[in-house]
Amino acid sequence: MKTLNIGIIGYKFMGKAHSNAWKTAQYFFDLNIKPVMKVACGRNREQLKEFADNWGWEEIETDWRKMVQRDDVDIVDIATPPNVHHDIAIEAAKAGKHIFCEKPLANSYEEAKEMYEAAEKNGIKHYLNHNYRRCPAVMLAKRLIDEGKIGRIFHWRGAYLQSWIVDPNFPLTWHLRKEIAGSGPQSSINSHNVDLARFLVGEIKSVNAMTAQFIEERPLPDESVSGTFKGAVKGTQKGKVTVEDAAFMLAEFENGAIGSFDSTVFAPGRKNYNYFELYGSRGSLIFDLERMNELQYFSLEDPDYSQGFRTILATEPVHAYIEHWWPPGHIIGWEHEFVHAAVDLLDAIDKDINIEPNFYDGMKGMQVLDAGLKSAETGERIYLE
Ligand SMILES: NC(=O)c1ccc[n+]([C@@H]2O[C@H](COP(=O)([O-])OP(=O)(O)OC[C@H]3O[C@@H](n4cnc5c(N)ncnc54)[C@H](O)[C@@H]3O)[C@@H](O)[C@H]2O)c1
Repeated sequence: MKTLNIGIIGYKFMGKAHSNAWKTAQYFFDLNIKPVMKVACGRNREQLKEFADNWGWEEIETDWRKMVQRDDVDIVDIATPPNVHHDIAIEAAKAGKHIFCEKPLANSYEEAKEMYEAAEKNGIKHYLNHNYRRCPAVMLAKRLIDEGKIGRIFHWRGAYLQSWIVDPNFPLTWHLRKEIAGSGPQSSINSHNVDLARFLVGEIKSVNAMTAQFIEERPLPDESVSGTFKGAVKGTQKGKVTVEDAAFMLAEFENGAIGSFDSTVFAPGRKNYNYFELYGSRGSLIFDLERMNELQYFSLEDPDYSQGFRTILATEPVHAYIEHWWPPGHIIGWEHEFVHAAVDLLDAIDKDINIEPNFYDGMKGMQVLDAGLKSAETGERIYLE
């Protein structure tokens, strides 16, 4: 069987989710290309070694530039914060490596555009990990829309709400520093929401947004503590939060639909509440990630006396990816979306076909997100060019 070697950069939250995906893919799916977990890269040798040993990466490397240039690396997997996505992706594309990149694609539309152009120019396969597209219930929503079951779409109502930094003593991690994260919830979670809306509704024409910052200073983090969301504080010194804590956006789509995008990390009780409602001339859909195996569907074509939202459990073999997992009703989880992404990227390379979302989608999404931030700053409605 043909093999391709993976080189991953970043070994924490996404490093683990991606490692699990590369490892698991081959057990459940009939792959034409076997992924080899060749080399893991990160800056702290000790933590990196522990990660590599745990997940079965064959070798380690502490300089991403060296890793990207290695002849024995075929796919570069970018699992770092967004400030380094651009430079890694450009070098990887120039070196002819395929790329699996975490969202948001970059820290600005300009950076994203350069990444897209470099990827296309060098003829590599590029995947951007808006993993929620690969949830079977979301794929079912797409199918119902494509089959015309929802009709003309009038409204998108998306929300991505979390609560992990409500405590003012949660430290100033990279997510709260503009130079690393680009922006706050707008890029970290509204990026997913915008990607789903582009996938299901269509391109966005104009936006109007508002942002808020609730906590201006936070204690500095203890970087030596490994693991994600540990929130370890170092000493009593504080630093400035330079991103927004919440970003709410309204949008007009090119097809005439209008929609809303709420994103915040200040919603106690909401842990990873990625939720959308979509309303059309023939029916409506509701998805809630925290019940990710389900899709709610309302059809105006049902007889009056039995109309109402029905809950479809998207775990039948007819639902996307499910035939490779468990019997009906044996639900799957968040990490399975990452496995689906790994499988699809390998398939795209094997068949020489496109995979979506890709850097084009990342560039288009980033344009919307940047426009939202600009709107929040100026108070104006921004039309996308
Ligand atoms: N798709 C999703 O559901 C999802 C969820 C969370 C995070 N993300 C995205 O994944 C990316 C990584 O986030 P995370 O939560 O894994 O962060 P994290 O802090 O848990 O891990 C980041 C890793 O990158 C490494 N790193 C940072 N700068 C580096 C550099 N210059 N060179 C080499 N390594 C470097 C860190 O050492 C760490 O190993 C971000 O873009 C984030 O937005 C996606």
